[in-house]
Amino acid sequence: MSSMRAGSLFAIVVVLGLVQATMAASPKANPDAGKKIYLESCQSCHGPTGKGDSDMAAYLTPPPANLTAKATQSKTDAQLRKTILEGRPGTAMSSYDGAFEESQLADLLAYIRSLK
Ligand code: HEC
Repeated sequence: MSSMRAGSLFAIVVVLGLVQATMAASPKANPDAGKKIYLESCQSCHGPTGKGDSDMAAYLTPPPANLTAKATQSKTDAQLRKTILEGRPGTAMSSYDGAFEESQLADLLAYIRSLK
């Protein structure tokens, strides 16, 4: 009887451990990972530090947004996300729909927020 109890106690500990491991692995926005994506996909226009000061900027009308500026930082995550996913018609900002995993998008946003 007592060995059965020990067995089910063991099972409970294992299940709790799994739940914890799953929670730890759940996506948490990582600005450093976002920076890597930014440097690969966005800096050619928005500049190395997001100020919109890339070499390309001189050739674009309107110029790429200064992501560090209040005008951008005062927008909600949902608004920034929408622009990244849909692009902005009439500007060089194209749609990144399907380009990133949900977690990568969260990392990108976390990086943009770190620029303010
Ligand atoms: C080909 C140039 C180009 C690239 C590459 C580019 N952007 Fe843009 N981006 C722009 C332009 C141009 C605008 C629009 C500026 C405006 O509306 O005045 C813009 C606007 C934005 C805005 C909206 C800012 C605001 O205040 O509303 C966000 C956010 C943004 N870009 C993020 C990104 C991210 C993240 C990437 C990389 C995944 C990226 N952009 C890649 C040119 C670019």
